[in-house]
Amino acid sequence: MSETKYTLPPLPYAYDALEPIISSQIMTLHHQKHHQTYITNLNAALTAQSTALTTNNIPALISLQQKIKFNGGGHINHSLFWKNLAPYNSPPTDITASAPILKAALEAQFGSVEAFIKAFNTVLLGIQGSGWGWLIADEVKGKLEIVTTKDQDPVTGAVPVLGVDMWEHAYYLQYLNNKAGYVEGVWGVVNWGVAEGRYTEGVEFR
Ligand SMILES: [Fe+2]
Repeated sequence: MSETKYTLPPLPYAYDALEPIISSQIMTLHHQKHHQTYITNLNAALTAQSTALTTNNIPALISLQQKIKFNGGGHINHSLFWKNLAPYNSPPTDITASAPILKAALEAQFGSVEAFIKAFNTVLLGIQGSGWGWLIADEVKGKLEIVTTKDQDPVTGAVPVLGVDMWEHAYYLQYLNNKAGYVEGVWGVVNWGVAEGRYTEGVEFR
């Protein structure tokens, strides 16, 4: 049995493209070290799983599930996250021009985009320990909801329209303990065009 070997997807922009909101140093480490490590560990776990399957090693298969969940989730989440972002003040960061359908849905459900962002930020700042904040839809063009996932758990059974990495490695080198500064700043680099595409067409990950 052969298994897929995952590789690090390139960023859709330069490492310094998100400055001043997210520094080049953070983006370089986050992509080249953190994301790469999830991929390396995912591939190793899948190889070990393949061996365990051929030998019917049930205890090994069971022990590998958590590694696959954590590292596979890390790979999925970061792959989604990079595309969620766009250079500061670039056209995709304009929700009115880039995401008219999603904007209307946010206004219908939350009252206004500003009210949605306020609610999302409150949820992000309420995350204890490591995790992610997500805007999800229960189906394409469906009901929107703000949720969190712990550690590297990915969103399952819903459309991950927009995700924000709330692990300290996502902001600490630049914002230190000012988590609110990161949460407020990140809206300046959200790629609303990508969010619109996910909301109206869904997103698949393999
Ligand atoms: Fe991360």
